[in-house]
Formats: sequence, C-alpha cells, structure tokens
Amino acid sequence: MSVDPWFQTLFADRIGGASYGKSTDIYKFEKIKRAKRKALAEHPERQLLDFGIGENDDMAPENVRAALAREANKVENRGYADNGIQAYKDAAAEFMKRQFGVTLDPVTEVCHCIGSKPAYAMLPACFINPGDVTLMTVPGYPVAGTWTKYLGGEVVRLPLKAENGFFPDLDGIPADVRKRAKLLVINYPNSPTGAVATTDFYKRVIDFAHKNQVVVVQDAAHILLSYQGAPLSFLQVDGAKEVGVEVHSMSKGFNMIGWRLGFVAGHPKIVQAYADVKDNSDSGQFMAIQQAAAAALRDPSIPVAVKTKYERRLRKLVAALGQVGFDCAMPGGTYFLYTRSPKGAAGRSFANAEEASQYLIHEQSVCCVPWDDAGAFLRFSVTYIAADEAEEDRLMAETVSRLKGMSLTF
Ligand SMILES: Cc1ncc(COP(=O)(O)O)c(C=O)c1O
Repeated sequence: MSVDPWFQTLFADRIGGASYGKSTDIYKFEKIKRAKRKALAEHPERQLLDFGIGENDDMAPENVRAALAREANKVENRGYADNGIQAYKDAAAEFMKRQFGVTLDPVTEVCHCIGSKPAYAMLPACFINPGDVTLMTVPGYPVAGTWTKYLGGEVVRLPLKAENGFFPDLDGIPADVRKRAKLLVINYPNSPTGAVATTDFYKRVIDFAHKNQVVVVQDAAHILLSYQGAPLSFLQVDGAKEVGVEVHSMSKGFNMIGWRLGFVAGHPKIVQAYADVKDNSDSGQFMAIQQAAAAALRDPSIPVAVKTKYERRLRKLVAALGQVGFDCAMPGGTYFLYTRSPKGAAGRSFANAEEASQYLIHEQSVCCVPWDDAGAFLRFSVTYIAADEAEEDRLMAETVSRLKGMSLTF
C-alpha cells in the first residue's frame, strides 16, 4: 500500500480530486494490453494476430525524411515556431485547393497544430464556458469531450447507429440541449465506423449550425483514406466556412504519425481564437518538421500510395472475416473495419463486444478493439505488420483458420 503524497488532496476535481490515481477501473485499451501480455505468456508458440493497433505501420516516405534531415541542419529552423511558419500554411492551403478545390487564405484561415489531438483540447477552450454543451458523436475520438468537461461544460453524446448509416440524428436533439450547445464535433471518414460523409449530410450540418448557433468542428484525420470516390472535405460544401473549421492531420494519410503535425482550417475568426489559445499553450512544432510536411503536402503520390495499401488490406480482411460469419462490408474510409461483434462462441454467449474481444485474444491471440457505445461492435485495424502481400495473405489465412475453429455465432 503506497502512502498518499502530501498534495493528494490538492488534485483538481477534473481529474478526480483527492481520489486521483485511486480508481481501480481498468480502461479498455489497458485491458487489451493485459490480455495480449497474458496470451503471449500462455501461448508463446502462437503468433499474436494484432488488429488492435490504430497507427500506420509504415514510416514516412524517403523524400520526406530527406527533407527533414536537410531542414534540421539549417540554423534558421532552430527556434520557437510559435503559431507556425508561412511555408507550411502555404503548402496546406495549396493542398486544400489541389485535393478538394477549397480556397483558403493561407495567412488567416490556416494554423498548424502539433498533431490534431491538441487542437481538440484547444477548440473547446475557445468556446466552452461552464454549463455549455459540446455535441459529440459516439463512438469516437474523445479528446474534445474530455476537455469540454475539464472546462466545466457538458458533453451530449450523439450515437452513430448502423441503421442511420453512422450519421448522428441531428433532428432528435432536444430543444433545451440545442440552446446550450456551442460546439458540434463530427468526424468523417468516421473512426471507428468507417462511414464517409455525403454532401447532403454536410448541408444538413451547416443548416443545423445556422439554426442553432453552433460552431462545427469536423475531424478530417482519416480523410485521405477514402474508398468511395474522391475524399470529401467539409469545406467543399457551400457555407461550411461560415460555421466552422476542419482539422487535418499529417498522421494517417502521409504516414507521419509520430511527427506530430496537422492544421486547423476554416473560418478566420475561429482559426484566430484557436491560434490565441495555442499561443498560450505551446510554442509550435519544430520548423524542420513543418518544412518536411510542406514537401509531403506537395507530393500527391504519398496519400495515394497509403490509401492503396490500406484499401487492399481492408478488402482482404472483409473477405477473411466474411468466411467465418462476420457480416461485414468494405468501409467507406479509415483503416478500420467496424463490424458487429459475435454474440457467442462454442456454446457460451458474450454480454458485449468487450467480452467477445477478450475471448478472441485469450482463446486465439486475435486482437481487436471492442466498442459498446452504440451497439456491440469490434474494430479490426489493417495497420498490422506484414512485409509484403504474400505475408498479408498468410496472415489472413491464419486469421480465418483460428476464427473458424471458434464456432462464432452472430
Ligand atoms: C478520429 C481521429 N481524430 C484525431 C486523431 C488524432 O490524430 P493526430 O493527433 O495524430 O493528428 C486520431 C488518432 O488516432 C483519430 O483517430
């Protein structure tokens, strides 16, 4: 038993107050980690088939790494970057024009972020006072919601249900919630469901924002991994810039996960507020990284190669899981396959997706991520390590063989 430090009672309520660090709840990802460790210890002979990782498996392309090496050796890149160098903002605006036909003022309508994650902490800080509401789709990336609560705001969850095409039911939001809502956070292509937005949906979002005086934050982290036609930016839709911002990331589409860079783009006053909060939180990403990312943004072949690979892997996974009873289809985007969780296996039934996922890891060292927010679903990521296509095929065959033996029921 460890003794509390003298400052135990000083922790802020937002992280648990005097009880901080004492909770025995184990979070989903920690449970998965523990189950993986146990499976490896009990079955060292059995390869872990890891569909749980949500990170690109390749490093950034050679030309981008070479640009970083060059830029890292320039004295002018040594210092604080503050709210970002113009060269990166220019490249981001050019990228938005080339890729989506979206025109942005690179001075006032674009600002970098150190990966998109911190932007989801800072945007609520721009708008949320105690008692204000952030509307957020679930399942989803939770950071904007966590920060809304840190700031004394309230999160209202909008479930993404299969029967609604994984779109939120905006019309079903009660009038009193709409009144208090200041932010609507959406994410398309959606993680984890893989749904992609339509122009019609975005039009409804813009209409909702105007009618209810709500600012829209669209999370475009996975946008370059779009498999149903060309990727669609929120900012392509008439009126979007009037109501919000779209947050882009270098992580997924450019294989630059660890480099920590993205950008917030849209209404200049929202970008300005974000930049003000950011300026009081960090001193900007290393300028050499921004320069290398500018080179990446100007190379359209990079996202095409990343997308081609994950699309191929997803097709193989859809076919493999289909063989063992999963009712799954090719997602519209992301590198995730989100599919209904089995109800049972070999005579036992699962209470939820979490139980099913634990069973798959324990029994067959097949790792995936459970989601129980809006129905019981499993998320399989195709970011597993495989040197070539033959290895991908071998892993798929092994997955089928292991899951087949489990007699899953749906
Ligand atoms: C939906 C979604 N949004 C945002 C992020 C954050 O990405 P990054 O901070 O690497 O830009 C992630 C990362 O997993 C994500 O899945």
